[in-house]
Amino acid sequence: MNTEAAAHVPVMLDRVRDLLAPALGVAGAVVVDATLGRAGHAMALLADHPGLKLVGIDADQAAIEESRRVLAADLSRVTLVQAVYDQIPAILADLGYPSVQGILFDLGVSSPQLDDPRRGFSYAQDAPLDMRMDRSGQVTAADVVNSYPPARLARIFAEYGEERFARRIADAIAAERAREPITSTLRLAEIVRSSIPAPARRTGGNPAKRSFQALRIEVNDELGSLRRAVPAALDLVGVGGRIVVLSYHSLEDRIVKRAFAQGSTDSTPPGLPVPLPSARPQFRLLTSGAERPDGAELAANPRAASARLRAAQRTRAAGNAA
Ligand SMILES: C[S@@+](CC[C@H](N)C(=O)[O-])C[C@H]1O[C@@H](n2cnc3c(N)ncnc32)[C@H](O)[C@@H]1O
Repeated sequence: MNTEAAAHVPVMLDRVRDLLAPALGVAGAVVVDATLGRAGHAMALLADHPGLKLVGIDADQAAIEESRRVLAADLSRVTLVQAVYDQIPAILADLGYPSVQGILFDLGVSSPQLDDPRRGFSYAQDAPLDMRMDRSGQVTAADVVNSYPPARLARIFAEYGEERFARRIADAIAAERAREPITSTLRLAEIVRSSIPAPARRTGGNPAKRSFQALRIEVNDELGSLRRAVPAALDLVGVGGRIVVLSYHSLEDRIVKRAFAQGSTDSTPPGLPVPLPSARPQFRLLTSGAERPDGAELAANPRAASARLRAAQRTRAAGNAA
């Protein structure tokens, strides 16, 4: 259905295009879209650069299939891979690309995933509590909700959801599941809602939003795979190549910020009299801090509200002392 493709509006699209353009115009350039989604960014990059080859990765088979349709006119220069993005090194090795000129991560969940009630990401529509991006994955949100000790659930809600009432929600879940397993999104949303004191319920949108986000991050090990993927991706950017990451959560952005800071800082051990040539920075930051969408984009696409963009360019090969 084309309505699905139409439902996803690529975030900060013009900025992503501009940041990647200097690297992708070179002959033989390859770009990795590590979170293909509905190929919104990918399609624009392919249109901008007629010689560009694209490797599109997504954990969600539905995203791969829909992107195959969206990119039908360009499939001769596109490789689509269903995988978690921490597999980028193995994927590029299999394809025979020792390095690439661009890598894009647009993290989190796509609008079609959120809007498809069968996926169980939404607190607004009833569905089985699933939330797996990769539907061959073992652990669903129902498994987490029904089996984790309350203290672990509380930690997840507090850390990943920044939920003030994490402990109350975890205790309510423990009490409810002792009566009957919690298997549906609306039942969980109601348990969360009724655990939050009434005055707090009146602000900040649906009270289940933060807990659902936290569960999604846990089910998909989103922070773990990002921690592995970003340094690995930096290693695969060729000299002059660029990497752009759009994140939607402060913990994601912190992982990106740290990895970029490490790549763009001299790593000479403290105490040495002169900087080691081999420890010179390998990247320069292309963004000053994290960039945010402008007001016009926010008005047109409220789902862009939490987006933060960081970008960097490789200036020097790894281990190259020159
Ligand atoms: C925000 S959407 C990307 C939208 C895309 N840029 C577009 O314009 O259509 C994020 C996508 O990343 C995928 N994803 C999330 N975590 C992933 C991971 N660890 N590995 C691979 N794909 C992942 C999701 O399945 C989702 O399709």
